[in-house]
Amino acid sequence: MSELRWPTYPERGVTLTRAIPREGGGSARIEDAEGKVYIDAIAGIGCACLGHAHPGWIEAISGQLRRIAASANSFATEPQLALAEKICALFPIDDARVFFANTGAEATEAAIKLALRATGRDTIVAFEGAFHGRTLGALSLTANPKYREPYIGCDDSEAADRFARMKVLRLPFNDLAALEACFAQQGPKIAAVFMEPIQGEGGIFPADAEFLRGARALCTEHGALLGMDEIQSGCGRTGDWAAWTSLVGDEIRPDLIWLAKALGNGYPIGACIARAELAEHMGRGTHGTTFGGNPVACAAALATLEALEREGALDSARAQIEHLRELAARKPIAAVSEIRGVGAMIGIQIGAREEARATAVGDALMERGVLVTVPGGHTLRLLLPFFAGADLLEEIWDHIAAAVASAES
Ligand SMILES: Cc1ncc(COP(=O)(O)O)c(C=O)c1O
Repeated sequence: MSELRWPTYPERGVTLTRAIPREGGGSARIEDAEGKVYIDAIAGIGCACLGHAHPGWIEAISGQLRRIAASANSFATEPQLALAEKICALFPIDDARVFFANTGAEATEAAIKLALRATGRDTIVAFEGAFHGRTLGALSLTANPKYREPYIGCDDSEAADRFARMKVLRLPFNDLAALEACFAQQGPKIAAVFMEPIQGEGGIFPADAEFLRGARALCTEHGALLGMDEIQSGCGRTGDWAAWTSLVGDEIRPDLIWLAKALGNGYPIGACIARAELAEHMGRGTHGTTFGGNPVACAAALATLEALEREGALDSARAQIEHLRELAARKPIAAVSEIRGVGAMIGIQIGAREEARATAVGDALMERGVLVTVPGGHTLRLLLPFFAGADLLEEIWDHIAAAVASAES
């Protein structure tokens, strides 16, 4: 059947069929059509934060399907209103308002439109290594030329990425001096600085606290907005609802945060959160979507956030990287050159970056029944369900040791 799909994704020859149930919650184990069981250490690329087939989440979705599953966005639905209230209470945006989308890229698009309208400016600063999605607006902010070249001018010289009314200035990540120089030259044109607080697709690179504080101060000084793409890092993965808080605390805040992935535990939903005075600029007809904020998706997301709270999942997510560092000390793997990340957003680098040794290790892991992704070819990325604790991490670590040995023998 898969041969009839466009060849946009790598063909792994695996057809996943179902989750292996785990008593009392979601599961980290899934089965394929041949009956082989895998640890899904990537959880649907960061989506299944509660694990697969979580009973309360299934109950919320099926209950909502029986009530109402579609509505025009000119009418609100109960799950939409309840989710908006929950999101605005949890995430570190003052006097927050939310726009619902279906995917991460769509949430990025909403952030772009708001930044352009609210400031009346046309330039967005984005960073090397960034990934913000694949729709043309979001792709303009995404760094990897492989993804952009056929669609968008790729000359990274000054403000060359013209897409629609937007120009993109691309700077090195975590380089505060470069950002200062950029504001000194182009300050009045800059609508926003957009970044992932922890670059995911780029290979799990957290922003330095000093860089985030400096970016906040520069944006405030020059009247630009500071936007955090928390699609991969957010919803509790780092032990706080936003990775921003894990990195710089709660005293300073961004202007915009956008989410997807874990928000629905795998049910497609995105959201862009902004201060009310900014959201005011997105009046009637300025943006819209048929499915964004679908009542079933909102019920799924509400159930996800409530279950994360009830199950203490943020605490277990926060502890994951410490378990892994402890394992690395107790059972060292010579090929592992660095462990990066925060909480349950973990990169395990194999060898030097330019050696790109991790792809073969990722393939060997799949053979052994562990699913990971390998950003940049140098780093194994773990985005486990938040409940995953020391035992599951040790099982995965032992598989990594064996996979390195077989891939490099
Ligand atoms: C940080 C970040 N932004 C945006 C996206 C795009 O999200 P989606 O694939 O749902 O469009 C991703 C997806 O990996 C992401 O990690």
